[in-house]
Amino acid sequence: MNQSEREAAKRRAGESAADVVEDGTVVGLGSGSTAAHAIRALGREVDAGLDVEGVPTSFQAREIAIDEGIPLTTLDEADVDVAIDGADQFADADLVKGGGGAHAREKIVDAAADRLLVVADPTKEVDVLDHPVPLEVLPDARATVADAVRRLGGQPELRRADRKSGPVVSDNGNLVLDCDFGAMPDPSGLAADLSALPGVVEHGLFVGFADEVHVGTETDVTVFEP
Ligand code: A5P
Repeated sequence: MNQSEREAAKRRAGESAADVVEDGTVVGLGSGSTAAHAIRALGREVDAGLDVEGVPTSFQAREIAIDEGIPLTTLDEADVDVAIDGADQFADADLVKGGGGAHAREKIVDAAADRLLVVADPTKEVDVLDHPVPLEVLPDARATVADAVRRLGGQPELRRADRKSGPVVSDNGNLVLDCDFGAMPDPSGLAADLSALPGVVEHGLFVGFADEVHVGTETDVTVFEP
């Protein structure tokens, strides 16, 4: 699958999930390039009269939603009916997220939603998760968390910015460690170990989160419930 085919697959997945959204609902707006297609598609539906409110999972999601004219709300004011979000990798209902460093807010919103619709292209699907797991860490905990990750068998790498000297800083003002654990046959166990580390704000393992997965293909979309 070349880059333009992949982009088209992401768009189909995003549009397919946006199609499922019902009138009068509150929608969690995910982050990343695939979720962005869903937000834009929702924006077009709002233009056509769909009555929804969005809860953004990141600065990026909020910006696109405002641009698209989607009314916004917060978790303080509303219950989320359905969230639409991307993934860096998925195996059945288990996900690795955080390629955009937004996984802390994504996890809060996705967990709060009655249903999570995952949108992805086919390159994201695997039998056993093996994508590096992003950890959002408090800046003071960077070294201690990195040591703990090594003890758990992972290789941590501080995520660095492209157009700024030094590290990526999350929407919440924290650092991101990308931690390569190789194949992860027991994501629940690893998720519990990572959650227990002092200074870890959130990790990118979303175990059992997906209620429905929309996978765009070169010509179509496959939808399944894991
Ligand atoms: C953002 O932090 C991520 O969790 C994204 O949802 C994930 O990286 C997928 O992004 P793409 O749809 O751009 O691949």
